[in-house]
Amino acid sequence: MTESYVESAPIHILPRWSLRNPPFPITGRRLALGLGLIGIGKPWGHTDDTVPPETQVQQLLESAFTLGIRYFDTAPSYGVSEQRFSGFLASLPPAQRASLTVATKFGEHWDQSRQQSFVDHRYDALARSLDESLERLGRIDLLQLHKTTPEALRSRDVERAMDYACSLGIPNLGASVSDLESADLALSIRGFSVLQFPFNPASVQFREIARRATASGLLAVSNRPFGMGRLLYAVQPFTREAAFDFLKGQSFDGIVLTGTKSIEHLRQNWAAFHIVGSERP
Ligand SMILES: NC(=O)c1ccc[n+]([C@@H]2O[C@H](COP(=O)([O-])OP(=O)(O)OC[C@H]3O[C@@H](n4cnc5c(N)ncnc54)[C@H](OP(=O)(O)O)[C@@H]3O)[C@@H](O)[C@H]2O)c1
Repeated sequence: MTESYVESAPIHILPRWSLRNPPFPITGRRLALGLGLIGIGKPWGHTDDTVPPETQVQQLLESAFTLGIRYFDTAPSYGVSEQRFSGFLASLPPAQRASLTVATKFGEHWDQSRQQSFVDHRYDALARSLDESLERLGRIDLLQLHKTTPEALRSRDVERAMDYACSLGIPNLGASVSDLESADLALSIRGFSVLQFPFNPASVQFREIARRATASGLLAVSNRPFGMGRLLYAVQPFTREAAFDFLKGQSFDGIVLTGTKSIEHLRQNWAAFHIVGSERP
């Protein structure tokens, strides 16, 4: 656990998570913007689901770093996302690489020949997946069970795989959830220190889970801030600022993952996330 985080945290919450670099680089801010990396690896997107070419991906990642993004979320099931991200990581000087927080997952896998993902929560599949992710990424700061179900969370296979991850020195374990029962169960697992869930103005089912995650000292990671893009293009669209303001008004501390693969959109999102009320036109 880093000194600086402890100093800025509310005194009644003891963070369970441990990161070399605090995810809250701006003093007093309790949420940080992270970049989700689905779109650089497999078809993903509301208006354009093409996978961008390599040069564009590397420029996107460089732009993210230059803007100040330090939290990146990938997964083996995001097609070639980990491979492409690993190329970017390898291009960084050691001090810059060390400043990043890298989150990945296991449990959902990628079938390259069929260009499809599939779920396998058995121990051997989880351990192999983790070995491959570590080989690609070098260091993993957070590992989340992917496509989490209550059955998987209760299984001996997942428990053994989490023990294996621990033995490899991965400092933060947790789950990415999309149902309330799994979320509730994940919060009760003592060894977990991170929980990822979808959260936006049109999808509020995890509001209380988000609050409880923070109250329990877990790092809360919210995905789909624009509802996979739908909110921005609705008949009565949300502005980027309104979608982020909604999240900032909730009772959780952690990461908001933006899912863009466009440099221009990333800059817009960074600006919208960091604008404060008094700066609004
Ligand atoms: N664990 C899970 O099961 C799970 C599920 C979903 C997501 N995630 C994680 O969360 C991340 C974010 O989720 P998400 O992709 O659904 O996030 P999102 O930001 O709600 O949606 C991304 C979509 O919004 C569009 N978009 C973003 N910013 C825009 C802008 N300024 N103007 C216009 N369009 C914009 C993107 O298109 P462009 O690319 O064209 O900008 C893309 O179509 C993912 O990358 C992944 O890391 C995890």
